[in-house]
This record gives sequence, C-alpha cells and structure tokens, in this order.
Amino acid sequence: MKNKTLLITGGTTGIGLATAQLLAADGARVIVTGRNPETLAAARAQLPASALVLKSDSGQLADAQALGSVLQQHGVTRLDGAFLNAGIGKFGPIDAATPQDFEDQFAINVRGPYFQIQSLLPLLANPSAIVINASVVAGVNFEHASIYSATKAAVVSLGRSLGAELAPRGIRVNTLSPGPIETPIFGKLGLPAEAAKNLIDSLGQGTLLKRAGQPAEIARLARFLLSEDSSFIVGEDIVADGGVRHV
Ligand SMILES: NC(=O)c1ccc[n+]([C@@H]2O[C@H](COP(=O)([O-])OP(=O)(O)OC[C@H]3O[C@@H](n4cnc5c(N)ncnc54)[C@H](OP(=O)(O)O)[C@@H]3O)[C@@H](O)[C@H]2O)c1
Repeated sequence: MKNKTLLITGGTTGIGLATAQLLAADGARVIVTGRNPETLAAARAQLPASALVLKSDSGQLADAQALGSVLQQHGVTRLDGAFLNAGIGKFGPIDAATPQDFEDQFAINVRGPYFQIQSLLPLLANPSAIVINASVVAGVNFEHASIYSATKAAVVSLGRSLGAELAPRGIRVNTLSPGPIETPIFGKLGLPAEAAKNLIDSLGQGTLLKRAGQPAEIARLARFLLSEDSSFIVGEDIVADGGVRHV
C-alpha cells in the first residue's frame, strides 16, 4: 500500500482505527474521519503525523456530500481507495424501537456511505477500490437487531449495484461482513461495562471458533479488498464471522 492515499470513515476507534494503523504501517497515507472530538484527538495521537484526521459526521447529509471537497481543501488530489466503515448499532425488540432509532441508523449506516461515495467519485483513481463495512447480520435471522440488520442488508445491496455501476470506471466496490468483533461499539449500547463484555463474550461463543474476532482480523480483510491482491473481486460481500452462519 506504499504511497497510496486511502480514506477510512469512522477510523477513530475499533475496526476503522485498526485498519488505518495497518495501512499506515504499510506506507499508505491515511485519511480518517469521525465525529467525536475526544476519539478524533485520541486517533490523532495513535496514527503517524502524516495521517489526516478530520471531523465529518456520516449521519449529516451535508457532511457526507461535502466529504470529497473537504479532502480537496486539505490538498488531496486523488484517492486509491476508501473504506466506508463508520456505523452505529442500536439493539432491542421492535416494540421499543422509535422513528429516531430508525432514522439515525439509516442516516449513518446507509445514506452516509452512499453520498460519501458520490462525493468521492471525482477523486477516486482508475484503478481504485471501495469497501463498505456491512455485517453478517445482513444475512442471518438475528432477533432484536431488525433496524441495524436492515441497514447492513441495504449496504450489501449497494455494494452489488455500485460494483456493477462503477466497474467501468476502474473502481472496484465490495462489502465485507464481520461477525462479532471486540470493539468499543459494545460500550455504546447503554449497557454497564460488565454486561457489554458479557455480550461480546457470549456472541463469540456463538461462533465455530468460540471467540469474538479482533479488529486487526477485519483490518487485514479490508486491506486485502482495498489492495490489488483482490483485483478480480468486485460486487462481492466477503464474510469474516468466525463461522457464525455455520453453527
Ligand atoms: N464490532 C462488531 O461486532 C461489528 C460486526 C459487524 C459489523 N460491524 C461494523 O463495523 C463498523 C465499525 O464498527 P466498530 O465495531 O469498529 O465500532 P466502533 O469502535 O464504535 O467504531 C465506529 C467508528 O465509526 C465512527 N462513527 C460512528 N458514527 C459516526 C458518524 N455519524 N460520523 C462519523 N463517524 C462515526 C466512530 O467515531 P466516533 O467515536 O467519532 O463516533 C468510530 O470511529 C460499523 O459499521 C459496524 O456496524 C461491527
């Protein structure tokens, strides 16, 4: 990835930060977005000085549509790849779901990456690669995750459609679908810390490997899909779920 310029949205914690660190260690210039000033500052401290760390809220349509021009204002003239990774999850039964839960998850997980990709098109090189972070829940029957799962199924569909639409421009689009990965996302569910830890542990026990995945394991898959090593893979969803679907 030496000398490539790669964007990672939601690159301040978890899978996104691990991917940014891996790509930077490979010699890429990484650009990372997030929305929380504290995690933005922490990411700046954990990434090389060459990394560009920007506040850009994927849930705000104006921010998503302006992402390409903001990068240009920071001197970025071309992108070799983009990992559309920012996402949130809110879990619970349909009885408790609110319209706001629905709107927030669709705004951040689906509308954001769609209009970010649109705004990045003038910058994306030929060849280049786009990877969108979906989830294994897009394709399994998982209770109490109906809205989140629907956003991820939408993203897998976008990967297929845009894979076809952008291939003639030399832009390969794929999605990746992680299973349970131990990241800060479980600390954002409004659960006490111990309950959040128990949740990820029990989800890990639901895999064939009897453990949750680590962010670095998904970062390596993202790197593969962003790199020319995956040059004949397009419009595909690659699952890395520890075997959840086969239990
Ligand atoms: N962990 C899992 O088990 C798992 C499984 C399957 C798929 N995924 C997907 O993997 C992706 C990364 O999640 P993660 O597990 O690594 O969780 P995470 O540690 O919470 O990371 C989420 C990242 O997205 C950013 N983000 C959230 N909302 C944003 C917004 N509106 N605008 C800009 N940035 C935003 C966060 O930044 P801030 O701190 O600034 O909010 C953070 O950098 C998500 O799309 C998630 O759905 C995760």
